[in-house]
Amino acid sequence: MTKRQLKLGLVPTGVGGPGEYNRWLDPEIPVDASVNIDWYIDIVKQAEAAKFDLVFIVDSQFITPDSPPHYLNRLEPLTLLSALAVVTKNIGLIGTATTSYNDPYNLARRLASLDLISHGRAGWNVVTSGDAGTARNYGKDEHYDYDTRYGRAHEYLDVARGLWRSYEDGALVRDRETGVFLDPTKLHALNHKGRFFSVEGPLNIQRSPQGEPVIFQAGDSDQGRDLGAAIADGIFTHAKSIEQGQAFYSDLKGRAARLGRDPDQIVILPGFTVYVGDNDLDAREIERHYRLQDHSFEQSLAEFGRAFGWHDFRQYDLDAPFPVAALEHAKNSFFTQAKRITDLAVERGFSLRQAVDHARTLRTSPFVGSAETVANEIGRWFEGRALDGLNIHAGHPSQFRRFTQEVVPLLQERGLFRTDYEATTLRGNLGLTIPTNVRGVEPRERVAA
Ligand SMILES: Cc1cc2nc3c(=O)[nH]c(=O)nc-3n(C[C@H](O)[C@H](O)[C@H](O)COP(=O)(O)O)c2cc1C
Repeated sequence: MTKRQLKLGLVPTGVGGPGEYNRWLDPEIPVDASVNIDWYIDIVKQAEAAKFDLVFIVDSQFITPDSPPHYLNRLEPLTLLSALAVVTKNIGLIGTATTSYNDPYNLARRLASLDLISHGRAGWNVVTSGDAGTARNYGKDEHYDYDTRYGRAHEYLDVARGLWRSYEDGALVRDRETGVFLDPTKLHALNHKGRFFSVEGPLNIQRSPQGEPVIFQAGDSDQGRDLGAAIADGIFTHAKSIEQGQAFYSDLKGRAARLGRDPDQIVILPGFTVYVGDNDLDAREIERHYRLQDHSFEQSLAEFGRAFGWHDFRQYDLDAPFPVAALEHAKNSFFTQAKRITDLAVERGFSLRQAVDHARTLRTSPFVGSAETVANEIGRWFEGRALDGLNIHAGHPSQFRRFTQEVVPLLQERGLFRTDYEATTLRGNLGLTIPTNVRGVEPRERVAA
């Protein structure tokens, strides 16, 4: 059995994602970083030089003037990743795409194209769209409710995977001697007729060296976790403490095992910002400086509404008890997160101001310290099965450099992280098996069930 190895992902959020409203003021970041392909190429090459497993592009299709700078103006993930594919060789390329506002045939085709362009390095972060306002950009007044969102997502994956198995190995004969291009017995239609989708197939594109794109999933409700356990090769999540990470890790892998899956075939990568200093005190000072500088209370208050369907909390008295009724606005949005915030506010008797402040301090990273301290802490979380790897938010450029140049070598010395890529495909580097393309068997049984 091969030794379990730490996985590393890079989450580039250019001029600043959630809670990072003023990051773009950093002179090291181009003011147009989030739409600047040269900036992405530069940072992804840094990650590839450090042997990162993957770059992970988050996304949504709804903004308000209060959205973080990176969200206001950014590149579409699969277009961006196609450009990155041709200037990189080994790093995995994962794009977020929603099952709520895409058709499966079209998305399966775009992902399969990225998988071929990158010679087997494509991945898909499956989301159901947390921003409820997205509905209004796609001809709907309201976002789908949770049952519909997650029902669609399950069926969507069955369809996408069925389509990716349209061609058996050897179907495209392409023999100039005999003049045979295709063996039609190895090309299969899907003929899917389900609750949400009707897709005949076949898909007009062959499989890649890794078979088909790697599937990641992000969503934290019971339904979200069940979806991840059923369909995902990897999970994107958040963890505030090692205990919380361990609880999520064992819950998710337990769900997968109960579905008859091998829990080791799912990698769990929570997202973190990491702060590295000359010593622990210096690193804490760097973190404090950036946290104070990267957003103000007013920006946090405006952003606070995002989980609640971008409900505007500026209308309430900051020092009155937390407006519990606002949870109603979250019902089709990021409900799990909004409910957690509301429950905590009630339990602790928070005012709105205290709830916003609490959400801000929660951004404190568990990985702050000298390179040595950060490497120790990563090792502790990894060995303690709180994670299989980290999705690192690139943050300030000087900090990402310190991580790759000071922390990664320590992780390598300790045998926790690779010194060179094991494979040229994302599946190969993540230690995932290539799915069989005897299609129609496993996924369709699940739809029938
Ligand atoms: C860690 C994490 C990352 C997410 N990233 C995205 C994203 O990039 N784009 C998006 O539209 N939704 C994203 N979502 C939203 C989920 O797909 C889902 O719609 C939302 O979390 C509500 O479902 P839940 O209550 O199951 O978490 C993310 C959710 C989590 C937990």
